Amino acid sequence: MNAAALIFSAVSKTFRSEGRQVQALEEVSFAIQPGRVTGLIGPDGAGKTTLMRLAAGLLLPDTGAISVLGLDSRARPLAVQSCIGYMPQRFGLYEDLSVQENLDLYADLQGVAMTERSARYAQLMRMTGLDPFTRRLAGRLSGGMKQKLGLACALLRAPQLLLLDEPTVGVDPVSRRELWQIVYRQVQETGMSVLLSTAYLDEAERCDEVILLHQGKLLGQGEPAQFSRSVAGRIFQVSAKGLSHRRLQAQLSRAPGVLDALSEGETVRLVMTAPVAPTAEALLPGQADVDIAPVAPRFEDAFVARLKKHRSEGETRLSIALKNKTGDGDVVIRVDKLQRRFGDFIAVNNVSFSVRRGEIFGLLGANGAGKSTTFRMLRSVTCQRRRTGCSRS
Ligand SMILES: Nc1ncnc2c1ncn2[C@@H]1O[C@H](COP(=O)(O)OP(=O)(O)OP(=O)(O)O)[C@@H](O)[C@H]1O
Ligand SMILES: [Mg+2]
Repeated sequence: MNAAALIFSAVSKTFRSEGRQVQALEEVSFAIQPGRVTGLIGPDGAGKTTLMRLAAGLLLPDTGAISVLGLDSRARPLAVQSCIGYMPQRFGLYEDLSVQENLDLYADLQGVAMTERSARYAQLMRMTGLDPFTRRLAGRLSGGMKQKLGLACALLRAPQLLLLDEPTVGVDPVSRRELWQIVYRQVQETGMSVLLSTAYLDEAERCDEVILLHQGKLLGQGEPAQFSRSVAGRIFQVSAKGLSHRRLQAQLSRAPGVLDALSEGETVRLVMTAPVAPTAEALLPGQADVDIAPVAPRFEDAFVARLKKHRSEGETRLSIALKNKTGDGDVVIRVDKLQRRFGDFIAVNNVSFSVRRGEIFGLLGANGAGKSTTFRMLRSVTCQRRRTGCSRS
């Protein structure tokens, strides 16, 4: 077997923040094999960025050792930095520079030879679909295009190890798919190894292998299907006639043997603590017309099961149920035929919707669809109201 691309051996990292010690990573050990895409999965604050920056040679561990492509990161941080590609979570691009100027700057920083640049630029721009936009300012690109440019900058030197910190945040589903295709094509063509962090659980299933991180601790490593198999026989879908899915979810989450209850449309998806089919009487005593059906496990079920086993009291729930029907509350936001032009360009065109009190309203759309512009207009109305002391909703 080839040598591992990245090895963490009992790595711990602590930060001092406002007089407190924050343990970002605690005794983390793992190895990732070359030529594979490994997903680093964990909720906010799990330690993903810290782990990435340690792997990139930008931070040193307090204790433990890190080997990057056979190099010891403590002894040779500069050598590590020069053989990896790293796309940080934020602030990766210079927004006041054009796409071309960003490429030039990163090529300078990474010491890419002048003779190789134009062929590499052309290849990366074609691959990311950015070739028509090389003169546009990076700050004027849509979210998905920015991420693709960030990826192109990280790939300039065709690194052996590519570290991508949440590259798909804020990227629409089509662009997300394109980004994944670019990454996999590179892996196939060059044998590159990739460590990619994400908080999107559906993306875990696209990785060859995943590493689960939570509160600085490693909760497991393996192929996604392996994780899903670990909760086989423990997942059920429940519906009950005459009970709203909100009440159903609330009651089921308190029922014995239930580890997690997540609203999915009109039904609730259960993760049980053990592979035993629950009875209607045990779950919802006295309730008629209860339907309980076993369903195939997903990676997300296994993730939630592991997290809940480890989570501390009072931690925020991971599951966010997106409600797409209006509740009984009063309307607090009404948007009527909203339009916004920037010169000739219409960013928001004839948008109408209303949001009721207590409702979680999802505003979905591709990159550049006008979501942020709509939000900014809502915010400016709220600010004006606050200034003028208007209390009407
Ligand atoms: N430079 C720093 N100074 C102080 N605390 C830090 C620093 N960097 C990270 N931390 C803390 O370390 C913990 C892990 O943070 P980290 O950014 O690695 O998490 P993450 O998994 O990348 O989160 P996110 O999904 O929000 O990006 C957090 O509690 C964070 O506040
Ligand atoms: Mg992060």
